[in-house]
Amino acid sequence: MKKIQISPSILSADFSQLGNEIKRLEKSGADMIHVDVMDGHFVPNLTIGPPVIKALKKHSSILFDVHLMISPVHEYIEAYSNAGADIITIHPEATKDLKSSILKIKELKKKVGISLNPETKIDVILNFLDQIDLVLIMSVNPGFGGQKFMPEVLIKIKELKKIQKEKKLNFDIEIDGGINFENSKTAIEAGANILVSGTTVFKSNNGDIKKNIELLKSK
Ligand code: DX5
Ligand code: ZN
Repeated sequence: MKKIQISPSILSADFSQLGNEIKRLEKSGADMIHVDVMDGHFVPNLTIGPPVIKALKKHSSILFDVHLMISPVHEYIEAYSNAGADIITIHPEATKDLKSSILKIKELKKKVGISLNPETKIDVILNFLDQIDLVLIMSVNPGFGGQKFMPEVLIKIKELKKIQKEKKLNFDIEIDGGINFENSKTAIEAGANILVSGTTVFKSNNGDIKKNIELLKSK
């Protein structure tokens, strides 16, 4: 049974204090830092890029779980790798050739993640499951924090979990979007072992990040 990990999304952090927020997350027991990169083209929002990630990396010793909501993505993979991304997660719709983008991330010795939007079926990635480290199941339409959880995506997690067992594969299953204290257990029971959370981690219990991470982890 994989250990349940929490990857807080800094999209909900105080952007004027990102270095301190990263330190606060690490001290509060975050297993990795979920960095939402948005280009205002693949999604209708714009956040941060390689220079900011490079600056933040100095303030943290835990993994940077970088979620690239950008397109085209292939040409930028190396820049995010050099900036300090440890896990590079891309959307299949954002690359002309998913196989070559996966290979590119592996060549750079980074972990490879593929993210599926709520309406994207798992068929798109079935042929790649033995080559990737992580599947990121979006439980909101990408672009913004604080959206409502879409429970219909849980069926995809259950399907992936079944395939993982049948084929004896070891990829992580990460869920991202609208995760809170009411649905985290359902997500874990469905088969997710990494929970992304922005709003719940930063805003619940008067911003007690340590308590919020512990509550999300508890089954
Ligand atoms: C949305 C991002 C998510 C989001 C999660 O496009 O990929 O990581 O920031 O934030 P919450 O937990 O607030 O839904
Ligand atoms: Zn994300």
